Amino acid sequence: MSMISVEGSMTHFANPLANRKNAYSDAQKAVISVAKSREAIDNITAWPSYQPTPLHRLSSLAHDCGLGEIWYKDEATRFGLKSFKALGGAYAVARQLQAIIEDKTGIRPTVSDILAGKHRDTVSEIVITCATDGNHGRSVAWGAQMFGCGCVIYIHRDVSEGRKQAMEAFGAEVIRIKGNYDESVRLADSEAKSKGRIIVSDTSYEGYMEVPKDVALGYTVMLSEAVEQMDGDIPTHVLIQGGVGGLASAVTGYFWDLWGEKRPRIIVVEPEQANCLQESAKAGHPVAVDGDLETLMAGLACGEVSLLGWQILSNGADDFMTLSEDMVAPVMQLLAHGYKADPKIEAGESAVAGLGAAILASQDPAFAKALGLGPDSKIFVIGTEGATDPEMYERLVGDPAQA
Ligand SMILES: Cc1ncc(COP(=O)(O)O)c(C=O)c1O
Repeated sequence: MSMISVEGSMTHFANPLANRKNAYSDAQKAVISVAKSREAIDNITAWPSYQPTPLHRLSSLAHDCGLGEIWYKDEATRFGLKSFKALGGAYAVARQLQAIIEDKTGIRPTVSDILAGKHRDTVSEIVITCATDGNHGRSVAWGAQMFGCGCVIYIHRDVSEGRKQAMEAFGAEVIRIKGNYDESVRLADSEAKSKGRIIVSDTSYEGYMEVPKDVALGYTVMLSEAVEQMDGDIPTHVLIQGGVGGLASAVTGYFWDLWGEKRPRIIVVEPEQANCLQESAKAGHPVAVDGDLETLMAGLACGEVSLLGWQILSNGADDFMTLSEDMVAPVMQLLAHGYKADPKIEAGESAVAGLGAAILASQDPAFAKALGLGPDSKIFVIGTEGATDPEMYERLVGDPAQA
C-alpha cells in the first residue's frame, strides 16, 4: 500500500524546439562537453578530501509511484559544504588564479602548486567576488580560503543569517543588499569593475560568458560519478531543478554529448514564483521574471536565466515544469525518515524539487501520460543539497540536521 503523502500543484510546458534528433552543436560543445569535462574531473578529484557522493536507489518509492527505478544522487556530503555547488565555484576560482599567474609569469601553474603556496605573493593580492543565494558563495569562499586569496560575497535580503555565517566562516567578507538576487548580481559586477576584483559567478550574462563555463564544468564531476554508479544503465528521465539554469544545462549538455539520441528526457523543474526558464521556453527567448521570487527553495529563487545555460536548454530540455511550495516539507520529511525500505537521506529545500516533481507527476494520470512516466521509467534526480540552512531544515522536518 502506498504511504506517500505528498501534495502540490504543477504546471507543464512541452518545449516545441526539443527533438530527440537534434544534434549537439559545436557551439553547445564549446559551453560543455565530455571532452572539456576531463580537465575539471582530473583536477577536482585530486583535491584534498575529495570523495564521490552516494547514488541511492529509492526502490520502495519507485515501486509505489508506479515507476521502474529512482536514482537519487545525494550531494549532502559534497566536500563538507553540503551542496553540489562546492564543485563549481571553487574550481572556477582555481582556474582564474591559474590564468592570472600564467599572465604574470608566463608559466601555467598546476592547482597543486597553488595549494602548496608556491605563488602565495601573487595569490594573496587577488580578491574574488560574486553574488549568491548561499551555496555558490559558500563554494567560492571555500575555494578562496583553500587557495589563499581574498573574497567578497554579495547576498540579497532573503538569504538567511545561517547561510551568511557559513560564508564568513570561510573568511569571506559578506555584504547584504536590500534588493533581490538579480540586483545582487549586478552590484557584485559593478563593484568588481570599480575595485579591481575578479568575478566568479555561476550565472552568465551579456559581457560575462567565460567563467560560468568553468563553474558548469566543475559540476560534471558529479555527473561522471553518477554515470559510473549507474553501471551501464541509462535513465529514461531526468527531473532537474532550475535556478538560473547552470546546473540543468550542465546535466543536459553532458548527457546529450555522452549518450546522443539515447539521452534521457530532460524535465526542468522550477518554483512557481521563479519560473524564468519555463517563461523563456514559452517566449522562445530568455525573459526575466520580476517580483519577490519568493520560494522556500532558496537556491532556485532566480528571475533571470544564464545565457550560456539557455544556449543548451533552449533546444535540449524537453519539458519545463513548476511546482507549488506545499510539496517541499513533505518530500524533505519522506527522505529524512526513509520511505519504507529506502535509506534515510538529509535533503535541503532546493534538493527536493526534482524528486518532488517525479512523485507528483507519476501519481497524476494526465501528467504521467504527458511526461511518459510509467513502470518502465528509470528516473535520475539530484538531491542538490543537504541541510545547508540547519534552522530552516529543523523547522520543516521537525528533527535537527546531522552535524
Ligand atoms: C541546492 C541548489 N540546487 C539547485 C540550484 C540551481 O542551480 P542553477 O542556479 O545553476 O540552476 C542551486 C543554485 O544555487 C542550489 O543552490
